[in-house]
Amino acid sequence: MHPRASSFEHDRWTAAVIGLGYVGLPMAITAAERGLDVIGFDISQERVDSVSAGRSHVEDVTDEQLGRALAGGARFTTDETLLREADAIVIAVPSPLGRNRQPDMSYIESASQLVARNAGAGQLISLESTTYPGTTEDYVVAALDAAGLKLDEDVFVTFSPERVDPGNVLHTAQIPKVVGGVTPLSGEIGAAAYRRLVDHVHLVSSARAAELAKLLENTYRAVNIAMVNELAQVANVFDIDIWEVIDAAASKPFGFQPFYPGPGVGGHCIPLDPQFLAWRAREMKVATRFIDLAEDVNLHMPDYVVSRVTELLNQDGKPLFGARIVGVGLAYKRNIADERESPSMDVLRLLERRGAVLSVFDPHVPDERIVAHRFTPVEPGHLGEQDLAIVLTDHDAIDYPGLAAGVPKVFDTRGVYRRLGTMPDNVVSL
Ligand SMILES: NC(=O)c1ccc[n+]([C@@H]2O[C@H](COP(=O)([O-])OP(=O)(O)OC[C@H]3O[C@@H](n4cnc5c(N)ncnc54)[C@H](O)[C@@H]3O)[C@@H](O)[C@H]2O)c1
Repeated sequence: MHPRASSFEHDRWTAAVIGLGYVGLPMAITAAERGLDVIGFDISQERVDSVSAGRSHVEDVTDEQLGRALAGGARFTTDETLLREADAIVIAVPSPLGRNRQPDMSYIESASQLVARNAGAGQLISLESTTYPGTTEDYVVAALDAAGLKLDEDVFVTFSPERVDPGNVLHTAQIPKVVGGVTPLSGEIGAAAYRRLVDHVHLVSSARAAELAKLLENTYRAVNIAMVNELAQVANVFDIDIWEVIDAAASKPFGFQPFYPGPGVGGHCIPLDPQFLAWRAREMKVATRFIDLAEDVNLHMPDYVVSRVTELLNQDGKPLFGARIVGVGLAYKRNIADERESPSMDVLRLLERRGAVLSVFDPHVPDERIVAHRFTPVEPGHLGEQDLAIVLTDHDAIDYPGLAAGVPKVFDTRGVYRRLGTMPDNVVSL
């Protein structure tokens, strides 16, 4: 075993995390819980101040966990020179889509340069931000190279995709981690380091394979969700209940994994990640037809939902223009408070544009954020005035029978009433 791998496996070492968001903060806390010394770096002074004061902004990290990490010596900073003390540096900065839905690589680029300014002495650098195959070489290795640092001598470089799933009960350390080195030696050393952080490491032969593995996971979800979204529209034409059909197919004990329709795809991963692959493949003159089709179907789900809502109102002799509609659930998925990239927002904006009078109820998203999106928050006790409720996010904390009892009609885009085994007469599913 290479001595550096051995020291990662046996010694107490310092883990640094760049970017203290949904991904970086849980990773920093995991490292602290696993007995390592921790440095958390972020360019946002506000974020560093609040984390240093023991206030977690990430639902999956409690203030108590953060407090224990701080008491154990974890340091959070905007001072990049502290990164020089680290044995391993994990980069967990954003990788959003920019204008025209093209990857915005600026965060990865600036983090790579930041690392290159401070790296050396046998450090392991691991990129975790979701991105296209080749990024670790194009940005991290290139920046280290330009700073005169020699791969596998001065520094070791890996890519390890992040699989954190907000709201999921699995602890970061319980989720197996794929690791790929830009060289075999970097891979071996990276795997040794990650074995100290998580219960299971799956080593692949290259950073590119690890980068593509992440995109396969999320493209698989995007494509299958699109397929079932399309089938839901077909089933409706035939007056077949898609939820019943999915349950029936899922009774097959092999060869089928259920996916469920909904108002579109949301969050920071499923709608975005496949676009990294499509964009890069386009540059390489390779077609990604599945990705393109899935995006087309998923992006049009809000239009379909609006057409169904219009139809339901018309059945009661009401136009969409002027109809009072309550959107139930603003978050992009159940039991979390994150409404960014939520398809609920797209549905509500479309309804608004067609003249509906909207209000929003979400037990997780604070009222001030609902107001910040220029929606009117409403409490379930005040639903009497509504013409229709549309369930957009299936949070557990919602009283669904009570909702159906309080409004003339409910359009359920998440199949929640079916799941609960209760289907009041005034509820219609997607
Ligand atoms: N959120 C998820 O569920 C999830 C899941 C899997 C993968 N990912 C991927 O992980 C990466 C990080 O996502 P996130 O959700 O944690 O983002 P986030 O927006 O929650 O946090 C990113 C943090 O990075 C900081 N930052 C930005 N530029 C920086 C720089 N140059 N140096 C240091 N800090 C910087 C920001 O201030 C912020 O605190 C993305 O590539 C994302 O696609 C996210």
